[in-house]
Amino acid sequence: TQKVGAPPLDKFNTVRHTLPMLSLNTATHPEEMAEFEARIQRFLRSSEPIEYVVEPKIDGVAVELLYVDGRFTVGSTRGDGINGEDITLNLKTIRSIPLTLRAEKRGLPQRLEVRGEVFLSRDAFQLMNREREEESQPVFANPRNPAAGSLKQLDSTITAKRPLDVFCHGSGIISGVQFATHLELLDAIKDWGLKPVPFIRICRSLKEIFAYQGEMETRRDELPYEIDGLVVKVNNTELQRRLGEIARSPRWAIAYKFKARQGTTRILDIQPQVGRTGTLTPVASLEPVPIGGVTVKSASLHNMDEIDRKDIRIGDTVVVERAGDVIPYVVQVLTDKRTGEERRFIMPDHCPVCGSGVYREEGEAAYRCIGISCPAKLKESLKFFGSRGAMDIE
Ligand code: IVH
Repeated sequence: TQKVGAPPLDKFNTVRHTLPMLSLNTATHPEEMAEFEARIQRFLRSSEPIEYVVEPKIDGVAVELLYVDGRFTVGSTRGDGINGEDITLNLKTIRSIPLTLRAEKRGLPQRLEVRGEVFLSRDAFQLMNREREEESQPVFANPRNPAAGSLKQLDSTITAKRPLDVFCHGSGIISGVQFATHLELLDAIKDWGLKPVPFIRICRSLKEIFAYQGEMETRRDELPYEIDGLVVKVNNTELQRRLGEIARSPRWAIAYKFKARQGTTRILDIQPQVGRTGTLTPVASLEPVPIGGVTVKSASLHNMDEIDRKDIRIGDTVVVERAGDVIPYVVQVLTDKRTGEERRFIMPDHCPVCGSGVYREEGEAAYRCIGISCPAKLKESLKFFGSRGAMDIE
């Protein structure tokens, strides 16, 4: 019952992090990973093999959770790393953030600062975007944006409606407890009743890291949430302490990013598609292009405002991105590739499916088919009725 939202706030208070929340240096190529390891060995004056913990890099929003005597007391955003915002009420609405920790397996530290990533599942993200498309609101480019937006709500009853989740991957201050390894910290996090990042792997060489990266890049699309790479951390906490940090990033950890799921192709045509409520969504057919192992042939352009904002024309060369199994979208038009042959898309004044009139409400971006028995509307309604979020008919 304590998970029910509280009255809206006027503003968020500031929270000063006891230990700064650092950011990570990034590597995209194997050579940069080799440099990372060489730097560590140089710094430690050792060529001993190093044990790493490798975790997925969750594409979410960084938060810190403070537990005092096992009770969730303050939750904050990263902010600038030194000062964050107090979003305790919003974090209390997330089911996987316990209000009290479990003490059965190991004692509870008096003060425990756990760090993690709040995220939205891909399913929830797609559902939100579909609803926004229907209402002709600008869609979210990735699940991180609505997750961040949900945490920034002054009214926590709105946050409570969003199916947010959290994975923990580190700590700030923990009073009276010292862990010999990062892996032990993750184990303790689990014992206390919080959710550590899944798919943790110990790697004892770069070769093992590269193999794991290949494995995870292939499995990436099967996961119900977005990951944008791996985080490679030195497991031994004493070595972490000796390595320290430089320019607000630890020397003992690095983000090993996956390749962007982007490709360049041409828009062959733009056709409106009729949705459940009659909304005409412009969809681009593309010259087929392989992106991250999938051949992409079409992209949703969402609505007329989006087309105007990005100045998308038929014949344009565009950069297309696939965010998980989300319908690919156009990131950008390469205007310097224009030949002058490109054509602007005009929304038809009759429904392409039933021929009824198309109507645009004053002040609304959506164009809608007004046909009461438009076959496209009926088909989409039926699909919606049977779908997972409605009657869930298998
Ligand atoms: S460890 C010293 N582990 O990525 C920073 N961060 O680009 C310690 N992130 O701000 C961060 N998944 O919010 C760590 N498994 C993971 C992560 C992770 C996502 C975020 C984190 C950090 C950002 C850095």
